[in-house]
Amino acid sequence: MENLRIPGPTPLPDEILKTLGQQMINHRGAKFGQILNEITAELKQLFQTKNDVFLLTSSGTGGLEATIVNTLSPGDKVLSVSIGFFGERFASIAQTFGAEVIPLCFEWGKATDADAVRQALHAEPEIKAVLVTHNETSTGVTNDLAAISAIVKEFDKLLLVDAISSLGSIDLPVDDWHCDVTVTSSQKGWMAPPGLAMVSVSQQAWQAHSKAKMPRYYWDFSQAKSYLEKGQTPWTPALSTIFALEVSLGMMLQEGLSNIIARHVRVGKATREGIKSLGLSLFADESHASNTVTAVAASNGLDVKKMLKILREEHGIVLAGGLQRLADKIFRIGHLGWVSEEDIAPVISALKVVLPQAGFRSAS
Ligand SMILES: Cc1ncc(COP(=O)(O)O)c(C=O)c1O
Repeated sequence: MENLRIPGPTPLPDEILKTLGQQMINHRGAKFGQILNEITAELKQLFQTKNDVFLLTSSGTGGLEATIVNTLSPGDKVLSVSIGFFGERFASIAQTFGAEVIPLCFEWGKATDADAVRQALHAEPEIKAVLVTHNETSTGVTNDLAAISAIVKEFDKLLLVDAISSLGSIDLPVDDWHCDVTVTSSQKGWMAPPGLAMVSVSQQAWQAHSKAKMPRYYWDFSQAKSYLEKGQTPWTPALSTIFALEVSLGMMLQEGLSNIIARHVRVGKATREGIKSLGLSLFADESHASNTVTAVAASNGLDVKKMLKILREEHGIVLAGGLQRLADKIFRIGHLGWVSEEDIAPVISALKVVLPQAGFRSAS
């Protein structure tokens, strides 16, 4: 079996793998209603929210599209705070549906400067919503969402958050940080297969929704809400992923959110220390380093493609390369969901052997 260490999909524990062989059930029946209600209540605990939470059958990107089309109208001004590839994706979805996107971009590898958000909101009073990525998976940076949120709410704007690779792994108290829509997806920190986006929707987001005119059908939050009241989803749900999530949420609640967060802090630190011990440099600003994904700079002659190939073929370890403009410039180690320090130690040991084979010359 491969040691899959990409930032999602993640490996699944045996208890969850077993659920995937389960027979289908009637998604309009009572048993499904019970499961959906139970999952929704448990997700609210892990999102730390009293807001509505919906399961959408899609990958994370579908959740981002749902966020945009449910809260905005064509021509609305939105501030897109971007620190990487996924920040740009969120902006481009908004643009596709006719929002007027005002970009606020930071160098890839750096975190958002909250003061710049204040200046941007001050400069353009008509901005309606702020798009922000909590954890930028392409660069391994976690934004200071509490600080950003405080400013966004000082200006009373909608806060729309891509928390796809942070929620359930990195602390994100949705209500305390006033997130209006928060999106995550099942294949990230949730120890479940791909197939579900999970979104929370605040009262302020519902008010925006009542006026939002972007076209939507599949993603309509009003439909999701009225069906959830009957213990259903509007459209046929990804039942197997829901069965998996039912078990994984049970495991997560048993471990406890604060223990899960602390485990990710430990594993993130162990990964960064391991990388530095090999003479490699972290790509991201370490003060904002992510505890779910570590990005490593390809320095000192390192051929990333060659390294990834040898790791995969000779050591059974699968890491991720860089995305878009970071292709061949970095590689990434995912450490979210079902992960402990013991899963990272073999990655560091294998890297020690493979790095010189892939051209890396240690400076020391
Ligand atoms: C921060 C972030 N946003 C968006 C996405 C896109 O999610 P998906 O591939 O599930 O559509 C990802 C996936 O890696 C992500 O990490």
